[in-house]
Amino acid sequence: MLRTHNCGELRIAHKGQKVTLTGWVQKLRDKGGMVWIDLRDRYGLTQLIFEEGKTESHLLNLAKSVGREFVLVATGEVAERFAKNDKMPTGDVEIVVSNLEILNKSEVPPFIIEDETDGGEDLRMKYRYLDLRRPIIRHNLELRHLVNRKTREYLDNNLFLEVETPYLIKSTPEGARDFVVPSRMNPGQFYALPQSPQTFKQLLMVSGFDRYYQIVKCFRDEDLRADRQPEFTQIDCEMSFVEREDVLQTFEGLAKFLYKEIKGVELSDFQRMPYEEAISKYGSDKPDLRFGMEFVELNDLAQGTGFVVFDQAELVVGITAPSCAEYTRKELDKLTDFVKRPQVGAKGLVYVKCNADGTFKSSVDKFFDQEALRKWAEKCGATAGDLILILAGEKDHTQKALSTLRLEMGDRLELRDPEKVAPLWVVDFPLLEWDEETQRFHAMHHPFTSPIAEDMEKISSAPADVKADAYDLVINGVEIGGGSIRIHDQDLQSQMFSALGFSEEEAQAQFGFLLGAFEYGAPPHGGIAFGFDRLCAMFGGQDTIRDFIAFPKNSSGRDTMIDSPSAVAQEQLEELFLETKIEN
Ligand code: AMO
Repeated sequence: MLRTHNCGELRIAHKGQKVTLTGWVQKLRDKGGMVWIDLRDRYGLTQLIFEEGKTESHLLNLAKSVGREFVLVATGEVAERFAKNDKMPTGDVEIVVSNLEILNKSEVPPFIIEDETDGGEDLRMKYRYLDLRRPIIRHNLELRHLVNRKTREYLDNNLFLEVETPYLIKSTPEGARDFVVPSRMNPGQFYALPQSPQTFKQLLMVSGFDRYYQIVKCFRDEDLRADRQPEFTQIDCEMSFVEREDVLQTFEGLAKFLYKEIKGVELSDFQRMPYEEAISKYGSDKPDLRFGMEFVELNDLAQGTGFVVFDQAELVVGITAPSCAEYTRKELDKLTDFVKRPQVGAKGLVYVKCNADGTFKSSVDKFFDQEALRKWAEKCGATAGDLILILAGEKDHTQKALSTLRLEMGDRLELRDPEKVAPLWVVDFPLLEWDEETQRFHAMHHPFTSPIAEDMEKISSAPADVKADAYDLVINGVEIGGGSIRIHDQDLQSQMFSALGFSEEEAQAQFGFLLGAFEYGAPPHGGIAFGFDRLCAMFGGQDTIRDFIAFPKNSSGRDTMIDSPSAVAQEQLEELFLETKIEN
């Protein structure tokens, strides 16, 4: 190699040694007779020094000529620094340079390449290769590497075998849209990129692989959010001859192992909660349990007194914000505006202040006397100094809106402590959900999820009441993973397709391969997939997954660095039998 050491490893113990370093110029300070250069590589920063009288003058001039991000190779002696920098691991030393070579020049970078940068999101994405030089982003990718390595270690130790599955497949109906790929050799036909390797991992179980895993790219053409990318990575797993408990134990084990190895945190056994309870207590199937603020239904106390908003509501429900009774009019107005935003969609917000003197002050004093408000407070468990926030309306909608308000209050009151870990298994999801638009049932997870044993009979007679043998792993309000015990019986799988409104022909056309495989001795099996990017962001203490992915897409699904997606040449379209060219 061109270097003897990297830019992060030299210490006072190296004093007097002759070393050669390579790297990029982070900063240059030119004080006339003295020049300092901070040289950066993947491992850290080291200060180079050039001093009139000690350094040959052509070297001093060369040092003065370099710019930010020039690539250098410098040889010199490790010396103790006069002014030490205890914020830098190499801050006790500097290199008195005796030879310097510019390996490559650089244009002036479009933003500052340090943790604190002046580059906005768009600029950073356009020049992602420069953004990746910033230590903060590099550390995220180092963390990702570690999570990947530790995941493999755990799964290998538990006899999981990594098997690659194809990327050019036929669509698996997981709920999102597919990205499709035209086939030149099969005119008019398309592959789809996998939303997940779901059917393949099930086929691997039929093949007897017993325990499979893959850290694998998945592709979904859906609306993007902070925790969603069109291509993302799953830790995808499947096991044979298991029941739900086996899968939960194995993957709770993985999560605990990763927290221990990566964060040094020992987690105790994860809480479990049925879906219905999560919805009624937190209005969400991925509740953040780092704080309480559970929902309290107030229909019985609040209805029938002539306040139309409550009387006409399907649900009147409140949360108690501790020690917030002192909120000013302005603060309460802000909260009302918050819940009225289209993204939250509530019509208004009712509050009850539980005053220190034992009285109550509410926004509905006209309709409810002190005694009524006292009963609400009692039911909500609110005491003097607390603030009760109440929403009313159609049930699902109101629960969702209050869930958003609960998280907002959690943020405002700093109850969502990044150092806390609140893991939860959400279980007993409904198997199917009714879709008003298409007037038919959809699988809540996917069509291969088994109903729980007790509900098997109801799949034809009362499909809406059937619970799924499915589970989600939620940590701090983020859905980290989801999976289920699968249907392994061909008859049951056919019944499921019929409940989903597939004719026998449609089911055969789409999933004939799976139904066929189930005729050849499919073992009972189940599995799970963790969102790998989300897991990494969680360990990195961030909500956004983008900076844990080397080359992510922006919020419009574009890679602005390579300028993709982009138009293709007319000939290419013709070759693919896609002759309609859309002018941009
Ligand atoms: P599911 O659809 O729940 O299950 O996906 C599993 C996990 O993948 C993550 N995830 C995403 N992460 C980033 N961007 C996205 N667009 C995105 N979509 C999903 C989430 C989620 O919990 N085949 C089933 C798994 C199974 O049943 O075994 C599946 O894909 O963290």
